[in-house]
Amino acid sequence: MKKFLVIIALLGLTYSCSNSSSEKKENSASGQTSASDAASSPAEGVGKFKHVDLAVNLDKKMADGGKVIYDMKCAACHKLTGEKLVGPGWKGVTQRRKPEWIMNFVTNTEEMLNKDTSAQAMLEICMVKMPNQNLSDEDARKMLEFMRENDGVK
Ligand code: HEC
Repeated sequence: MKKFLVIIALLGLTYSCSNSSSEKKENSASGQTSASDAASSPAEGVGKFKHVDLAVNLDKKMADGGKVIYDMKCAACHKLTGEKLVGPGWKGVTQRRKPEWIMNFVTNTEEMLNKDTSAQAMLEICMVKMPNQNLSDEDARKMLEFMRENDGVK
């Protein structure tokens, strides 16, 4: 019986997190940022990355480097689909977040969770604080490239 309840609770979590965090609400970050979001936190997030230059095409070598880090440090909590595990699935993350936001989030996780309103909204739904993964700037950039590849950039 107890086990059963735990499973139900987990299912509820999974549903609510993937539902609102990764799909509907955060679509706003793709350009039509909702007024409340824009008013409370910059779309670049909180951290040192103010401008990240992206090439149109994928840097495959960088993306491959990102994949290695993903397997080691991120896969336990993030799927590459839109489905939530512990954190949101990464499908579409490069559309719902600016590159600067992603780089700031993965290098400055704690401050982002404390100050950035859209990061806080995710935390409210996922109910687990993503631990700082101690990524160097270079590693963070590789992660971003891997996420772009996952979102179809060639
Ligand atoms: C222990 C689980 C855990 C690990 C490991 C983890 N994350 Fe997370 N991540 C989360 C959670 C939970 C969230 C949602 C925010 C929160 O509640 O802290 C999140 C959110 C994110 C987001 C924002 C997603 C979105 O939809 O906007 C990105 C980007 C991210 N993580 C990147 C990474 C990267 C890169 C790694 C590996 C280097 C990683 N995470 C490792 C749990 C984790």
